[in-house]
Amino acid sequence: MAGPRIAIIFQTGEGHTTGVAARIAAGLRANGCEPEIREIDAAPGTLEGFDGVVVGGSVHNAKHGKELAAWTKRHAGALADRPNAFFSVSITAAVHDQAHLARAGEVAESFFAQTGWHPDMVALLGGALLYTRYGWIKRFAMKQLAAHEFPGLTDTHRDYDLTDWDAVDHFARDAAAHMRAGAMAAHAV
Ligand SMILES: Cc1cc2nc3c(=O)[nH]c(=O)nc-3n(C[C@H](O)[C@H](O)[C@H](O)COP(=O)(O)O)c2cc1C
Repeated sequence: MAGPRIAIIFQTGEGHTTGVAARIAAGLRANGCEPEIREIDAAPGTLEGFDGVVVGGSVHNAKHGKELAAWTKRHAGALADRPNAFFSVSITAAVHDQAHLARAGEVAESFFAQTGWHPDMVALLGGALLYTRYGWIKRFAMKQLAAHEFPGLTDTHRDYDLTDWDAVDHFARDAAAHMRAGAMAAHAV
């Protein structure tokens, strides 16, 4: 029997979340699901035909993207009707102490308050410093931020991947189990 069909809807600024979404898709596929990745511009107009959904995006200026928020708000009811999960990608989440995780959690909470969607599962994932992809203003701002948060990661001639890819794999495995359990329950009704 084919596994549950799962939509992965994501928004990215500089492209790092594209890789995170692809890795989650690979994890879902390896764990019995059939994922379909869509960037927010090409997000489906209906969730009809999807057994579950993973929504995610990166944080810029303490917020998730407004297109992702608008789509999620529009589909909050349909999201709640099927197994669902959310992931947030930020550099705050790359610092593993209580204060930073609390801050990353607050950004996610404000996304939920704004959209009216309260996901079944949430992952706060570390992102990347992509100096070589930024224009000079962004590069300067991010270097200032990094000097506080990540002393040593301020060489703007290179990029720094701060994602814990094991944590991404772990989230994908747990999400797959959740999606499969939901699909089985739906078929049993
Ligand atoms: C202009 C700018 C603003 C950012 N603001 C925040 C922020 O407020 N909090 C945070 O934790 N990370 C912030 N980041 C870091 C991003 O979340 C991180 O680089 C992430 O990997 C971006 O993913 P993306 O390439 O998919 O957009 C910011 C990055 C940029 C370029």
